[in-house]
Amino acid sequence: MADVTKNDEAVSDEVAAVEAAIAKPVERGEPILQVRNLVKHFPLTQGILFKKQVGAVKAVDGISFDLYQGETLGIVGESGCGKSTVAKLLMNLERATAGEVFYKGQDITKLSRRALKAVRRNIQMVFQDPYTSLNPRMTVGDIIGETYDIHPEVAPKGDRRRKVQELLDVVGLNPEYINRYPHQFSGGQRQRIGIARGLALNPEIIICDEPVSALDVSVQAQVINLMEKLQDEFNLSYIFIAHDLSIVRHISDRVGVMYLGKMAEIGTDTEIYDHPTHPYTQALLSAVPVPDPEAREHRERIILTGDVPSPANPPSGCRFRTRCWKAQDRCATEEPLLAIPQRFVGDDTPAAHESACHFAEEKDVVHAVN
Ligand SMILES: Nc1ncnc2c1ncn2[C@@H]1O[C@H](COP(=O)(O)OP(=O)(O)OP(=O)(O)O)[C@@H](O)[C@H]1O
Ligand code: SF4
Ligand SMILES: [Mg+2]
Repeated sequence: MADVTKNDEAVSDEVAAVEAAIAKPVERGEPILQVRNLVKHFPLTQGILFKKQVGAVKAVDGISFDLYQGETLGIVGESGCGKSTVAKLLMNLERATAGEVFYKGQDITKLSRRALKAVRRNIQMVFQDPYTSLNPRMTVGDIIGETYDIHPEVAPKGDRRRKVQELLDVVGLNPEYINRYPHQFSGGQRQRIGIARGLALNPEIIICDEPVSALDVSVQAQVINLMEKLQDEFNLSYIFIAHDLSIVRHISDRVGVMYLGKMAEIGTDTEIYDHPTHPYTQALLSAVPVPDPEAREHRERIILTGDVPSPANPPSGCRFRTRCWKAQDRCATEEPLLAIPQRFVGDDTPAAHESACHFAEEKDVVHAVN
């Protein structure tokens, strides 16, 4: 870890610089998080005694995006494309292989442990599974209150019970439930506890990794509504990872589409859902079930053939080319960069947003996702 190579004085200077940066407010609409060329390769090893690296799973392979103050950035993509790994890298739960994550201008991928602790308070996470992410042997009061053991400056010991009860109230739970255990709550209530725990340290950013995927549809809406209310109340910025395209559209201001460790396309919800220019996004949207029979009859479904290639051995050039109906020779040799396609630069059209395709263009797909 970085602490080993930095002397005490350097670490103290770093902590002071980080705390000064954190104290500065970020205006609404300014970037609070800037991700640049972020890479995470997990080594693939062989051998029992003498482990030899024989390759790497390229889970995240050069991703850049910004998160603006007060917005929700949705991230979608098929299973295994690297969404959770991005979340863990942003939280520094995984160390990046390369690249930077600037939080208020400070690169948090290279901070010492002490400086990182100050940052962690402000970037929290809500996990997918409200059943396994809460310790069954601890009361709700202890689950939420334990965050204050690491950051006692937020709630001194005598004040914790009151703080936890306040949080329970904020997320719509009865404050008198403070001594109950997780099994005494429904799935939706447990996710409210997870959200209360995420809020306990007054963070600025919450990274939500599939926060409602394990819940019943009727409960999903309640939890999403709660998250929107809390965002306004506490001026939070969200990264919202999910499979469900309609939930992502509902909650997000902007959406990023990932494919095999890369960002394929990113833009506002209207740009991505109503004017997608990347063939992968078009295929994803065309696969969403359409309830209206007439619309269903007129829709063109794009059926992707072939499996998702292994992230240990991704295709050359464009990673999507093995499943893309538009692929040409150039796609195998030249990697398309995430940028506004040249043909749309300067145009006042919703198609003018970042798309990593040599032949980006709009295509009519029936939009079931509103
Ligand atoms: N600790 C690890 N060691 C090795 N490979 C890993 C590790 N964590 C993730 N991977 C691999 O990295 C790739 C991306 O995984 P990740 O969990 O980020 O995907 P995801 O998009 O979150 O998928 P899902 O939608 O199923 O949650 C996968 O191929 C996964 O097997
Ligand atoms: S660059 Fe080529 S293979 Fe990749 S999405 Fe565009 S057309 Fe398809
Ligand atoms: Mg995941």
